[in-house]
Amino acid sequence: MCRYDIVKMEIDDHPACTALFGGQCPFASTCLEQRRTGNRDAYLLRVGGEIVSECHLVYDNPEYGTVPGKRAYFSRMITKKEYRRQGYGEIIAQFILDLAKEKGYTEIALGVNYDNTAALRLYQKLGFTVYAEAEDDYGKYYRMEKTL
Ligand SMILES: CC(C)(COP(=O)(O)OP(=O)(O)OC[C@H]1O[C@@H](n2cnc3c(N)ncnc32)[C@H](O)[C@@H]1OP(=O)(O)O)[C@@H](O)C(=O)NCCC(=O)NCCS
Repeated sequence: MCRYDIVKMEIDDHPACTALFGGQCPFASTCLEQRRTGNRDAYLLRVGGEIVSECHLVYDNPEYGTVPGKRAYFSRMITKKEYRRQGYGEIIAQFILDLAKEKGYTEIALGVNYDNTAALRLYQKLGFTVYAEAEDDYGKYYRMEKTL
């Protein structure tokens, strides 16, 4: 693994929701709005200045099952294809979990497509467990949670 740093994505740095999902992200405007209102923070892991992984923490969005001051939501985990399986995803994910804990949250939840083996394995490794199954316009997915 190369040397890396983790930085907060500032609104001015990225007019779109995310650097890695790019313009094709259907949630870009929602994410940006949540970041503007302080309900979401986005973090980037960089190697030699290049953005390699991204992950977000959502604070207040009842649609996602958040509970103010208690239960946060883990969102938008991604690693650039050519950097996968090198440990960067796990590092930024753990950074987000530590951040939620620092902010006083005791639980965190997320949603993951049921056939997304890589993400499921990562979340299980981090201690998340499945607490429900659901379905939306994008297909079946698991709701996972973890005590911080
Ligand atoms: C899921 C994702 C973020 C993992 O990122 P990553 O940087 O490759 O993850 P890491 O290298 O830190 O892997 C950490 C652990 O995750 C699991 N994992 C990651 N990729 C995996 C794969 N392809 N198959 C099985 N397990 C995998 C393993 O447990 C791994 O630990 P190990 O290497 O000790 O076995 C990456 O595959 C990705 O960007 N996928 C596309 C976007 C996406 O689906 N995001 C999730 C939305 S819910």
